[in-house]
Amino acid sequence: MVTAIFPAAGQGKRMQAGMNKVFMELAGMPIFIRTLLKFSGCDAIDKLIVVVGRDEVDFIKGIIGRVPGLKPYKVVAGGSERQYSVRNGLAAVDPETEVVLVHDAARPLVSEETILATIEAAKKVGGAVAGVPAKNTIKVCDDNAMVQSTPDRRFLWEVQTPQGFRLNTLMKAHELAAREDFLGTDEASLVERMGEPVQIVMSDYKNIKITTPEDIVIAEAFLRSDMAGRAINTVQEKMNDIVGMANVLKDKFFNKRVE
Ligand code: CTP
Ligand code: MG
Repeated sequence: MVTAIFPAAGQGKRMQAGMNKVFMELAGMPIFIRTLLKFSGCDAIDKLIVVVGRDEVDFIKGIIGRVPGLKPYKVVAGGSERQYSVRNGLAAVDPETEVVLVHDAARPLVSEETILATIEAAKKVGGAVAGVPAKNTIKVCDDNAMVQSTPDRRFLWEVQTPQGFRLNTLMKAHELAAREDFLGTDEASLVERMGEPVQIVMSDYKNIKITTPEDIVIAEAFLRSDMAGRAINTVQEKMNDIVGMANVLKDKFFNKRVE
């Protein structure tokens, strides 16, 4: 069984929208609903756990209850930090789960290929993280922004979500982090510090985390270009069907072919 946890209990401060950004609409649909539908369309996913603010639980249950096509889900209350929200989500995971995925509700553009590849790598390695090679040169600086070193870009990856783990691995990592008061910015860092392996899975540059207002513009542009691509493919398929039918008729009646 594969269970996906969606941290959605942030405040979206950098979006400056005066609300939790994952409830904002992206091309006519709330961001977190897009994310949940993307995973629900994936055969490999069995259950969803949505983690929202303590005072948002009932409101969100009401909204999600009206969305057709979702996999079985639970809505649970999050915490003051993303890591605490994920921990609350983990506490609600069905113990029969083999692989647990954690995916930011604010990343609605993740591809099905990335979701599947993360599950497969998590089963094999124990821990897997979607990511892309860093495009920019990255500097390590001190507190005064004085450059200390320049790591070789060949070894730098920008990591995203989903991040997938065998259930007991992520449970153990969260328990250790809680005991030692360690706060990481992603799940993998909690697993890495136990010395357990984590592999990067090649994702794509469209899987952005919607964080600041310009990300909405970028994400809508990606959605528009996907829609245009799908429309062109449909027209091409229809054209091929028409030419195919015309050839059947020509073969039958005139023994000539249309090109
Ligand atoms: N998140 C969460 N619980 C928190 C903080 C964040 O579940 N206490 C979730 C967010 O809802 C988001 C994901 O973790 O889906 C990634 O976090 P981020 O992009 O930082 O979102 P916010 O914390 O909402 O945004 P900001 O940091 O700008 O306030
Ligand atoms: Mg945040």
